[in-house]
Amino acid sequence: MAADFNAVNLSQGFPDFPVSEELISLVHEGMQKGFNQYSPMPGLPMLREAIAQKIYTTYSAKVNPDTEVTITAGGTQALFVAITALVEEGDEVIMFDPAYDSYDPAIRLCKGVPVHLELKPPHFGIDWEEVKQAISPKTKAIIINTPHNPTGSVLSNNDLAQLEQLATQYNLYVISDEVYEHIIFDGKSHESVLKYPGIYQKGIAVFSFGKTFHATGWKTGYMVAPESITKELRKVHQFNVFCGNTPMQYGIAYYMQNEKNYAGLPEFYQSKRDRFKELLSTSRFEPHPCYGTYFQLFSYDTVSDKPDTAMAEWMTKEHGVATIPASVFYQNGEHVNYLRMCFAKTDETLEQAAQLLCKI
Ligand SMILES: Cc1ncc(COP(=O)(O)O)c(C=O)c1O
Repeated sequence: MAADFNAVNLSQGFPDFPVSEELISLVHEGMQKGFNQYSPMPGLPMLREAIAQKIYTTYSAKVNPDTEVTITAGGTQALFVAITALVEEGDEVIMFDPAYDSYDPAIRLCKGVPVHLELKPPHFGIDWEEVKQAISPKTKAIIINTPHNPTGSVLSNNDLAQLEQLATQYNLYVISDEVYEHIIFDGKSHESVLKYPGIYQKGIAVFSFGKTFHATGWKTGYMVAPESITKELRKVHQFNVFCGNTPMQYGIAYYMQNEKNYAGLPEFYQSKRDRFKELLSTSRFEPHPCYGTYFQLFSYDTVSDKPDTAMAEWMTKEHGVATIPASVFYQNGEHVNYLRMCFAKTDETLEQAAQLLCKI
């Protein structure tokens, strides 16, 4: 619809600014040097080694690049592989709405049962008592996502400690979607499951270079899990895509060795978040707290009582700004009166969008 109505597109989550020239040159160099054929099934060794090194410097966790790190065709493929490797008919998987839309269909495709719990506004935190009540003898796994799309909430070390307690007590797998690990604000630090041995012993952490290097179309990511789980993941990965694309792996392997290429992301996106909020301060859209990701939720109670899907459609057609209605992230599709806007945009795009939004 954004294209059809020539609207400023704040809907799907992708940056509208370019990828680093240096990274593009490195990928090009990979192609010129002949890195154009299948990589080894788990990914290029030099990329897996660079990842293990980064995990050690970032989370003080030691993972073996040969047996615990697997390169994937983006975060979504890693999630699909993780779910397919673990879930069997009748297995229940606890997940939290609003949720990234790939979890539920992947679970159902495996004849598993997604058990949807809700994050509670305004902070969209997890009610761990409710999680405990939802655990049954059939519960196989729990999926978390921090920083969280679409709410911008992040889990604290207290959350992870509670998860660790439940996961060990009930012997649960934990699939941890951490694709926004480096997009976190206000001095908060990302709580990766890699820092929690009690979770990681049955954990799979999922990451995406698309988010970290502004290259969502490159579809390159990775998953990290203990050796015994990784063996199972690779059985699915092998017959799903076999391997990630090779020249991107080459370029990223060199580029990520310089910490500066991702360490500045919190500051970079925090200033976009703040700029967008400031530009909308005279509008009737009410921002929710956003501690991570490049999404901002807004309420629009004083603008309209339209359901959020109708509101998003109306704003695209009549006001030239495309957003995502938050109800699409819920299993029951119940209208929730929030819109998600993506601020991974140039200042020019944000200003153009804000001008239109302030008139509504
Ligand atoms: C929470 C979440 N997980 C996973 C992904 C998928 O990442 P990728 O683009 O690498 O498949 C996204 C992308 O929007 C996301 O928001």
